[in-house]
Amino acid sequence: MANIGIRLLEKSFGRPSGPLGRVGGWLMAWRNAATERHLVDVAELRQQDVVLILGPGPGVGLEAAGERSGHVIGIDPSEVMLTSCRRRCAELIRRGRVRLVRGVADDTGRPAGSVDAVLAVNNVQIWPDWRAGFGELHRVLRPGGRLLLSAHEKWLPGGLPALAAAVEQAGFEEIQTWTWEPPGRGAATAAQLRAWRADG
Ligand SMILES: C[S@@+](CC[C@H](N)C(=O)[O-])C[C@H]1O[C@@H](n2cnc3c(N)ncnc32)[C@H](O)[C@@H]1O
Repeated sequence: MANIGIRLLEKSFGRPSGPLGRVGGWLMAWRNAATERHLVDVAELRQQDVVLILGPGPGVGLEAAGERSGHVIGIDPSEVMLTSCRRRCAELIRRGRVRLVRGVADDTGRPAGSVDAVLAVNNVQIWPDWRAGFGELHRVLRPGGRLLLSAHEKWLPGGLPALAAAVEQAGFEEIQTWTWEPPGRGAATAAQLRAWRADG
């Protein structure tokens, strides 16, 4: 029974696929929109920044990032979510401000030192290997580049201390953590982190 529950969660939210994945995408676009937009605000993106959005899901944060920066790349392993992003960001894709790539956090396919900012909302808790994931993000960020993470606090294993330790182990510096309350009744507290790749 527990296995069936886990498989349904995976199909709806973890790596959305099929009709359940489409419903999950709709729910996430509704419930997580404020957090997605908030993290884009915190990232203080500039027009010239190259920005990687990991696990954009239905693409709310991807769209917000594409309105600020002209070089946004969304990376997600789910074809259903990539289709949803294509629909939501059609105009930004047409203008060349947003691109989509099928991939995962620990294998982004980006050249070393090519990215100014990496953002991930509500997917760090399901990456299979934090060491590989944060190692890859440290590799693709340029010196001085920034990492921004957000996850539902209640689903983050080990909480912010464990996340900060994994980020530090990968070589990031000036790590800051905090929690943020999204607006709306019953919204889940977001655990958030910002860190930098050392400059030089
Ligand atoms: C819970 S959803 C969150 C979507 C969106 N960011 C939000 O907050 O509404 C998780 C997303 O991460 C993607 N994902 C799953 N495993 C991943 C991985 N290892 N690396 C990057 N993205 C992943 C899923 O396909 C899905 O789109």
